[in-house]
Amino acid sequence: MNAKTIFEPFRIKSVEPIRWTTRAEREELLKAAHYNLFLLPADDVLIDLLTDSGTGAMSTHQWAAVMEGDESYAGSRSFDRFKTSVQSIFGYKHVIPTHQGRAAERILFGVMCKKGDVVPNNTHFDTTRANVEFTGAEAVDLLRPEGRQPALEHPFKGNMDVAALENLIQRLGRERIPLVMLTVTNNSGGGQPVSMENARQVSVVCRRHGIPLYFDACRFAENAWFIKLREPGYADRSPKEIAQEMFALGDGCTMSAKKDGMANIGGFLCTNDDRLAQQEKDLLILTEGYPTYGGLAGRDLEAIAVGLQEALAPDYLRYRIASTAYLGNHIAAAGVPIVQPPGGHAVYLDARAFLPHIPPAQFPGVALACELYLEGGVRSVEIGTLMFAAAAQMDLVRLAIPRRVYTQSHVDYLVEVILEVWNHRDRIRGMKLTYEAPFLRHFTAHLEPVSDGAGPH
Ligand code: F0G
Repeated sequence: MNAKTIFEPFRIKSVEPIRWTTRAEREELLKAAHYNLFLLPADDVLIDLLTDSGTGAMSTHQWAAVMEGDESYAGSRSFDRFKTSVQSIFGYKHVIPTHQGRAAERILFGVMCKKGDVVPNNTHFDTTRANVEFTGAEAVDLLRPEGRQPALEHPFKGNMDVAALENLIQRLGRERIPLVMLTVTNNSGGGQPVSMENARQVSVVCRRHGIPLYFDACRFAENAWFIKLREPGYADRSPKEIAQEMFALGDGCTMSAKKDGMANIGGFLCTNDDRLAQQEKDLLILTEGYPTYGGLAGRDLEAIAVGLQEALAPDYLRYRIASTAYLGNHIAAAGVPIVQPPGGHAVYLDARAFLPHIPPAQFPGVALACELYLEGGVRSVEIGTLMFAAAAQMDLVRLAIPRRVYTQSHVDYLVEVILEVWNHRDRIRGMKLTYEAPFLRHFTAHLEPVSDGAGPH
């Protein structure tokens, strides 16, 4: 039988209760949180889609491995298992553990970049951009134009613009470009994948100019599954083989194991370059820890070693991608504007199209995220004018799905909540700031709804 039901390929052994709240309670809670969902206590959230990072459920195999953790300061057996697991997929010579992805970024760019340098990427994630800029270098996004049009359907909207990369190298010269990065999947651009063909072309350009290519590999397994589904010639290849082929095109990677590492904390940095690896390990010792633990406990290394392999299991990926697509397709069928097609780890609502009566200056993404909470206790995250101020090109609301945490009935509930909000969208009011920090304001901002008079008509 070819079952159509989306089937979670796991049974549940331990459950975490969810506390129901009433709409009246949520109105009070939201007011107390100054209409900023980051400021809500997580216990007051029914379905938490703030992030897919570190929020996944570990398997019985991972928990069993946790008990095998070797907490030795140096030469830990758990590090050997971690390194073997990472190398079986990524294939790079040096594997440097870090406490999460951004620590790997800080060390990589700290070693490779200096003022005046330029780092191209399909799209830098915000911590990646910040860590590039912290070294005085400039972070440049070279996404293909399809990737910037929310409603446009295209199988690989995460692809880098290879001609633009070539032009940039010609214009600046190889010396000013210490590395090129490819983010798989492209989180800031809607969780969209990069094709093998695109990675190959980027790799060819990099090799021709002698520039190292690094992957921001956070969601590499989801990217591999999209290649299997969508790219000619890959239907019969395993996700692991696809991942191996992709990483062989590069010289190293940064990774947040909080995503496709299926762990609650952790990350790593890989490189094939002996000299760089030495410098990176020196920096690691300074701020993260000894190179055989890098700021992690032995048990974390064990959980990641197992989790990386589980993330590549076809049954898991089939369910994961189908479940996210189910959410996106069901709301889109009712007219809800989303970034098309649905991404791997998240569905992104287009808040400007959802709430055309709210101008960007009144934060339509925040207004929509607040209404999803009021309606159904759902926590999402605004990626738009509150986060990026004038630089925001879109106002999106990201519904990021934690791995192996919610069931299909939770997804059906989400569809219900979103459609209810869609049906009364005319009544949603814009927001105004009452407090903002000088940088990264979205984490701590205070807002309130604009008064009826100043609001929509
Ligand atoms: N790169 C990408 C593409 C990411 O999505 C993230 C984190 C990082 C790097 C940094 O990794 O959090 O382990 O330091 N993304 C999370 C999110 C925070 O919600 O999208 P980290």
